[in-house]
Amino acid sequence: MNSAKNKIVFSGVQPSGDLHIGNYLGAIKNFITMQHEYDCLFCVVDLHAITVKQDPAELKNNTYEVVATYIASGIDPEKSIIFNQSNVSCHAELAWILNCVCRIGWLNRMTQFKEKAGHDKENASSGLFSYPTLMAADILLYKATHVPVGNDQKQHLELTRDIAQKFNNDFKAKDFFPLPEPFIDKDISRIMSLRNGLEKMSKSDESDYSRISLMDDGETIRKKIKKAKTADVLMPETEKEVNNLPEVNNLLNIFSGVTKKSKIELINAYSGKNFSGFKENLSEALVELISPINSEISKLMDDRNYLDSIIKKGSEKANERALKTLAEIYDIIGFIKR
Ligand code: TRP
Repeated sequence: MNSAKNKIVFSGVQPSGDLHIGNYLGAIKNFITMQHEYDCLFCVVDLHAITVKQDPAELKNNTYEVVATYIASGIDPEKSIIFNQSNVSCHAELAWILNCVCRIGWLNRMTQFKEKAGHDKENASSGLFSYPTLMAADILLYKATHVPVGNDQKQHLELTRDIAQKFNNDFKAKDFFPLPEPFIDKDISRIMSLRNGLEKMSKSDESDYSRISLMDDGETIRKKIKKAKTADVLMPETEKEVNNLPEVNNLLNIFSGVTKKSKIELINAYSGKNFSGFKENLSEALVELISPINSEISKLMDDRNYLDSIIKKGSEKANERALKTLAEIYDIIGFIKR
């Protein structure tokens, strides 16, 4: 391991199906650049997925699909560790321990639980409530220092830091767990719905027109962008004005995310014009990015043996590292060595 690789990156994507451009720009795109500089682990968090009801066959298929998406997007399985969470049982074991460190009051403050549990909190799984301690386990098991996540996960990462700190203090294990830093790209970590610029792009939105899926073909992408909401004005001249037009701002964030152009460059290029040319060019940029990825995903999905071999190799590597940390933790806590 070289010195830059002292930085350890961990991130996870849920296999809940239909990954969209928000997932790509908010998470996966960052993974690709990070793999060159850091020691990276990219996980498919199937244990997190079952905090809400899943169809078993779909869960399996979606897990393969995230692995295929990682690879198709450019994550090199020789460089980074790609694996699924349930294959490394230390995640569940450490989550239990951290459940005993984390305070109920801390979990009660998590806004994502409130959103996901909806009106009927009493009927949500207790797994959904303690979900953030499992996420903390994912990160701390590898003593990760950097965690690329979307903005919505910031609170969970802060909780992870609180848990790490409490563990270090309670067990007088100074600096045992490093306090992980979030790695958040502010603009593109909040890609919003194409129908409503104030709502996050989400796979659970009823309207397919609210999101661009990584599995969409060119024609679908063009249709969706054509229908995307903008504003009854021409493209403004300043970022400040754009900020008052949430849907336009969102399309600019997407455009900037999929190209190397900055937002202000794009505003300058299209200011004073209506949105039709802007949308055409945005569609082309999206198609250029997504088409090769989605044809590669399809190819990989037809080669289960290959995907299985990647998962097996990744899980073995992750397991070796996880077992080492867990043994240290067991010793700190006072569990008798196995
Ligand atoms: N909770 C994250 C999400 O829904 C997924 C996740 C699970 C994760 N474990 C993680 C992200 C560890 C970063 C690090 O997006």
